[in-house]
Amino acid sequence: MKEQNPVIEEIRQKADIVSIVSDYVALKKRGRNYLGLCPFHSEKTASFTVSQEKQLFHCFGCGEGGNVFSFIMKMENIGFWESVKILADKLSIPFDSSSYQPGEDMQQKNLALEINSSAADFFSSQLPGSSVATEYIKKRGLGEKVVSFFKIGYSPESWDKLYKHLVSKGFMPKDIEKAGLIVQKAGDTVSYYDRFRNRLMIPIFDIKGRVVGFGARSLDGSEPKYLNSPDSPVYSKGNILYGLNFSKEEIKTKDSVLIVEGYMDFISCFSSGIKNVVASSGTALTMNHAKTLQRFTSNLMLVFDSDAAGSLATERSIELLKELGIYPKIVPVIGGKDPDELIRKEGPQKFLDLVKEAVPWLKYKLEAAISRHNTKEAEGKSKALRQSAAILSTEKDQIIRREYAKFIAQKLGVDLDAIESEIRRRSYYSRSAGKIDQPKKPLSKDKIAEKVLIKFAAEDENALRLIRSQVETGDFSDEQCKTIFDVVALKSEGSGPSEAAKIVESLDGEAKKAFSEIMLMEFEFDDKDKALNDCINVLRLGKMKKRLADLRREISEAETKNDYPRITALQEEYKRCHSEMRSMQ
Ligand code: CTP
Ligand code: MN
Repeated sequence: MKEQNPVIEEIRQKADIVSIVSDYVALKKRGRNYLGLCPFHSEKTASFTVSQEKQLFHCFGCGEGGNVFSFIMKMENIGFWESVKILADKLSIPFDSSSYQPGEDMQQKNLALEINSSAADFFSSQLPGSSVATEYIKKRGLGEKVVSFFKIGYSPESWDKLYKHLVSKGFMPKDIEKAGLIVQKAGDTVSYYDRFRNRLMIPIFDIKGRVVGFGARSLDGSEPKYLNSPDSPVYSKGNILYGLNFSKEEIKTKDSVLIVEGYMDFISCFSSGIKNVVASSGTALTMNHAKTLQRFTSNLMLVFDSDAAGSLATERSIELLKELGIYPKIVPVIGGKDPDELIRKEGPQKFLDLVKEAVPWLKYKLEAAISRHNTKEAEGKSKALRQSAAILSTEKDQIIRREYAKFIAQKLGVDLDAIESEIRRRSYYSRSAGKIDQPKKPLSKDKIAEKVLIKFAAEDENALRLIRSQVETGDFSDEQCKTIFDVVALKSEGSGPSEAAKIVESLDGEAKKAFSEIMLMEFEFDDKDKALNDCINVLRLGKMKKRLADLRREISEAETKNDYPRITALQEEYKRCHSEMRSMQ
């Protein structure tokens, strides 16, 4: 165990896993534990469990588990010492980083962050001097406060102003290039030019509010309208949701999020007080976006532009979210091409009214399917009916299906029966084509007993003593349980429940996950002592059965050799074991 460092000891004592995890996952108290949606896999029903008492977490869905250190390591995708640094910072524990060596990746990331942050300062400093930029800002209604809050800046119309500035700050050209701010001249490995010129610079932040890249809007009508930072050690478009650093608290509090397309949509919403919002930056949602948002809420509302690209993004996002078991609502943008225009023209209240009208995804898809046809004609009506029945047939909930069938019937002016029989026909096919969930294989009695014993041993000194006197590591059949039992059996005596969090550090990989699962499993026993003895017996019985099987093999071996004295001795032993086993059952 990593005992030597006093900082680690202090973190162990001061860190509360519930509050650390809450920075990333919305947790609700359920009985003794806290529950939330797992940040490590997609799920609709919460199986991510955190125990304050044991200072452990475990997801009963994907199996991930461990203590605060493992949580931060997994969450931030970093090594142990980096997690120590983060936790020490969070808890204001002084930590001498010279004793810790960040990995090469981490150094690259830190450098890219420093360079981006320097660039953001530079762009900010250039804004007041540019009449093009200041006029544009005025025209778009971006006040001083908004500009400084979002650190909006300006990239001058020059080939190397930023480049020179960053080099003068001591950054190496190669590193500036890696951060995405300068571009190498074609056929020339030593000359560079600024990527962003004469553009309004909108810094893109990661969830911690660090600048990881830029969205740069053209000011003179040149294409593309938005030029974005390329992928870098700290930025990739499919992973970043613009504005989440500002809005995450409000998203948790409101338990819902509005997903808009553009930077400007975000800025307009947020600065007019609608703060549970993020921007997807012009694309349909990605799996990563969805998983990130799921950590904060499962109520997603899509607010894409009221143009063809917007509805395509909406359709794609719905399909992707459905795969994750998320059923979004869609906010119609009426009275402007996007939320930004709408808010500026009609005010935030008008937008909020539309949010109230958000349509469930199924209704949205039905309406979209129907609107694609001319339902005044028989052919159009028939196509619309078949398409909407196809959409409805994928809905499992009978009541919802029936309600929407009524909705279609009314909209198309056809009989409810006609729609319902079409849905039935379709569901027959979609059912046989659909996947059937594989039920989880139940644990065998032996495996359960092994797990219960480990839990007893880790939680209760007296139980541990009894178990140690009756059972040895070799008696466990499960390899994971063997490893864990060795560690648990060695744990220092007279320690409290948070000992479990310490044990985790001596385990790695699968054993760590298995241990957190065991510790957070809820067993209900009327009589704990009896349960303990029963489990010990299950293990001893297993051991006995193995011994009997070995004896049988040895006997038949002796028989082939006609070794009669040995046969007799083995048979005696077999009888003894057998009757001992009978007495245990
Ligand atoms: N976008 C992009 N590259 C482009 C165009 C758009 O990355 N060439 C992204 C930007 O993140 C932008 C978002 O898509 O904010 C929405 O694009 P669009 O609706 O075209 O821009 P608007 O937000 O309407 O831009 P503006 O209001 O500044 O005209
Ligand atoms: Mn716009």
